[in-house]
Amino acid sequence: MAERLSEEELKYLRRYDVIGDIAVIQIPPELEHRVEDIVFALRKVHPFLKVIARKGFHEGAFRIRDYSIIWGERRLETVHRENGVEIKVDLSRVFFNPRMKGERYRLAQLVKDGERILIPFAGVLPYALVIARYRKVKITAVELNRDAYELGLENVERNRKRLKGEIEFIHGDAFKVLPELPRYDRVISPTPRGVDALALTLSKAERRLHYYDFVHENEVEAFRRRIIEECQKLGRECSVRVKKVSDFKPHVFKVCADVHLS
Ligand SMILES: C[S@@+](CC[C@H](N)C(=O)[O-])C[C@H]1O[C@@H](n2cnc3c(N)ncnc32)[C@H](O)[C@@H]1O
Repeated sequence: MAERLSEEELKYLRRYDVIGDIAVIQIPPELEHRVEDIVFALRKVHPFLKVIARKGFHEGAFRIRDYSIIWGERRLETVHRENGVEIKVDLSRVFFNPRMKGERYRLAQLVKDGERILIPFAGVLPYALVIARYRKVKITAVELNRDAYELGLENVERNRKRLKGEIEFIHGDAFKVLPELPRYDRVISPTPRGVDALALTLSKAERRLHYYDFVHENEVEAFRRRIIEECQKLGRECSVRVKKVSDFKPHVFKVCADVHLS
């Protein structure tokens, strides 16, 4: 790899992910002329790859990325292995972010056997599968994208023997489904960007809420205060810890607010 790309250029290769046997890469304008070399380098480092795709941006309510295949088989469907579970995805039809692997493991470690957990915006069920893999819990998950819902059901079957916990999966709009549901010990909200589900998800949390959002570095304290105010509106006291999860764009982070309601 190093024979063909300079140190400076190699830095850009960090902007790629491997999902199953598919590599997805963002190619910046600086490397536009080096696509063939990038394909060569990726195949050398990951000889098992079958597809290499350029990734565009997340679009629409279902947060599906726009991809173009630059090498290999003409497909975006694959099975990704993470945290001891197999997750089938079709990147042309559903959202999936392999970089949240550490977050999923972190949450699974916080969860105790016996908890009832609600996961709106559940996608193909990566959070639900990883938590149910480690803990004997009852999870209710909600997803609006029918393709993600169907892949999620398939993922539950695929992992059935590995799971200690149970997963109930509801196809529907979280804003319509959640008001009909009871409160849960823990709510995990992998909120789509631009959607405000804070009041909705807080109202369904008995003890804990993990709320993902995108926040400017100067707005973290305001975000924390807003959560405390929302709790007060519900007549509840809470403590909030905001954790940076990843960089999103300059000065803006993806964060997780870990909310403990008393
Ligand atoms: C940021 S993605 C997270 C998906 C999944 N939790 C994961 O991490 O792979 C947000 C998900 O919410 C779904 N979604 C968007 N609006 C929704 C709604 N109103 N009700 C339920 N799901 C919704 C999208 O289809 C998408 O799968």
